[in-house]
Amino acid sequence: MTTEESDGALPSTIESICRRHGGREGPLLAILHDVQDTFGHIPDEAVRHIARTLNLTRAEVHGVVRFYTDFHAEPARAHQLKVCRAEACQAVGGRAVWAAAQALSAVPDGRVEIEPVYCLGNCPCGPSAQWNGRTLGRMTPERVHELVAAAEGGRPS
Ligand code: FES
Repeated sequence: MTTEESDGALPSTIESICRRHGGREGPLLAILHDVQDTFGHIPDEAVRHIARTLNLTRAEVHGVVRFYTDFHAEPARAHQLKVCRAEACQAVGGRAVWAAAQALSAVPDGRVEIEPVYCLGNCPCGPSAQWNGRTLGRMTPERVHELVAAAEGGRPS
């Protein structure tokens, strides 16, 4: 579903998800996972509805969405680059890889989402990153540039 607000399906779908988890204790995370699986992100309207249903404030629900990096308040971009920022990778050049990724993430309307992660279990091959779910080792700023340039269709970065 792409433009959920325009087809009116969003409220009934969210209501259905909330009902499905209603009998559970502490259903917020399960509801948020289902909403994100369904819509690709957690839309504001979903936050309002979930807060009302669970008798929480919108700030509380937003806080949970912001706390967990796997939840997205905005629709996900086409590609994801997760860069390891944990100690072992930082010690072998991870800071430069992260700096390159951050510089490239400033592309307006870019297709690549940059996200920090803290250990990908690939420490001996650091600096590590994950490109669309695939773990990569021995990352360099140049490799980051190549991946992002290819994803952006050769657009200069
Ligand atoms: S510290 Fe980077 S993969 Fe473990």
